[in-house]
Amino acid sequence: MTKDHVLKMLIQSDSYLSGETVSQELGITRAAVNAAVKSLRADGYIIDSVTNRGYKLMNRPDILCEGAIASCLPENRMETVCFLKEVDSTNDYLRKLAYQGAPQGQVVISDHQTNGKGRQGRSFDSPSDAGIYFSYLFRPTTVPADTAEITAWSAVAVQNSIRSVCGFESEIKWINDLVVGDKKLCGILTELAVEAESGQVQFVIIGVGINCNELTEDFSEDIQDRATSLFLQTGNRIDRNALAAELVQNFDQMISHWPDEHDWYLEQYCRWCSTTGRMIRIIKGNETETAFAERVNNSFGLVVKLADGSMKVLNSGEVTTRNA
Ligand code: BTN
Repeated sequence: MTKDHVLKMLIQSDSYLSGETVSQELGITRAAVNAAVKSLRADGYIIDSVTNRGYKLMNRPDILCEGAIASCLPENRMETVCFLKEVDSTNDYLRKLAYQGAPQGQVVISDHQTNGKGRQGRSFDSPSDAGIYFSYLFRPTTVPADTAEITAWSAVAVQNSIRSVCGFESEIKWINDLVVGDKKLCGILTELAVEAESGQVQFVIIGVGINCNELTEDFSEDIQDRATSLFLQTGNRIDRNALAAELVQNFDQMISHWPDEHDWYLEQYCRWCSTTGRMIRIIKGNETETAFAERVNNSFGLVVKLADGSMKVLNSGEVTTRNA
């Protein structure tokens, strides 16, 4: 959209930008530039205009959008980033693109999901104007058993993205929730397509939902005591566009590291994993089993000691530290 291109140029310019420069660079008329500026102002962007100098962006609202994400990424990266103001689920949308042949590295980002999906068939609360809903397409040559490792690497990629943009470090709850204490900051849902004949993974979709600028009352009532946001933790409003772009870059890096940088990801993962060294409950449908989480093994499995003293390795599934 023209508006996004104009916004990108305004964000990237430190000085006044003439209407002529914008119109030439984008190959659009001066009238189209004026219309885009007018529309951006209506959205809440404060754009100064000075005769003979042009436009300068003075302040911007917290709007997640294509132009602002593009301003934080290398020139051609947006070619395979699809931004949608609203979608049912970024994972579902990306799966359709994957079946249509989208390349590895294809991303879908949205400001609002009407049917956000969580693990184990749950829904994922995805209010507008506050979070980031992000899905990344990976086409590794691998078998399904290795995808627990991809899931764990993803938690490290998200943690590093948050750390670079917000300077904030959360904890990783095995296997891939980002939490602060017992409150959830980010959920990750990894879904696969497998070819029946070969048993090979066709593609992996890594879906990430980060609570960024929510206040407690923005979460639905049933999760208000279990959810937190970067804003609630840091007291600062988060630049969601910068964080979305950082996610793109960290996941690009992650897939270029796969599988050789295993030791580095494991080391980072163990440093942040707060599940180990404490009592947990292993969730099995409606039932739970209490255990002691001893350590994370070389394949990112959780080594636990059960109540009868026997040892077990969890390679998938879900645990909680609440009331354990
Ligand atoms: C969980 O905590 O249970 C996983 C939540 C994963 C949510 C993300 S938001 C982006 C992507 N699209 C979805 O529908 N779900 C994932």
